[in-house]
Amino acid sequence: MDRTFVAIKPDGVKRGLIGNIIRRIEHKGYKIVGMKMLQPTLEIAEKHYAEHKGKPFYPELINYITSGPIVAMVVEGKNVIEGMRHMMGSTVPNDAQVGTIRADFAQTKECNTIHGSDSCESAQREIDIYFKPEELCRDWKSMMDYVWESMPSE
Ligand code: RTP
Ligand code: MG
Repeated sequence: MDRTFVAIKPDGVKRGLIGNIIRRIEHKGYKIVGMKMLQPTLEIAEKHYAEHKGKPFYPELINYITSGPIVAMVVEGKNVIEGMRHMMGSTVPNDAQVGTIRADFAQTKECNTIHGSDSCESAQREIDIYFKPEELCRDWKSMMDYVWESMPSE
């Protein structure tokens, strides 16, 4: 099963959107196998967004992501990296499709409520920044696991 790293960013936490966003992830049928609330340190934020170092928006991005707690998650599902990015919507909320998290909850690209990994390599790198292997709970079956089991194999 594919895995991705998802984070409800500080504006999402401060606005009381944790439950709403997690509900969407659960309703999609994805399996949350790791979850924690933390306020990213400067060191964590710089590791997470290393690819953007040197860009004009980088200092503001680091200030934003360290400005309060985030809810960090590891999420599993079929093609979950692409699926989560689709549920999140475009980086710029007004370009995002209505019904996506960013279109529905965010107003600016600087403060766009949710993060999701953009590739397999990013997902693994980001999971390793936020979680130790023993912090992941993989040894349980979600309802969706039973559904997959009941389907004819491809
Ligand atoms: P994320 O990594 O947070 O999931 O967002 P993303 O892939 O949709 O966008 P990315 O290009 O990776 O940018 C990371 C975050 O930096 C902020 N940003 N600000 N002011 C700007 O021009 C600008 N561009 C990007 C956003 O918070 C974006 O989500
Ligand atoms: Mg990104």
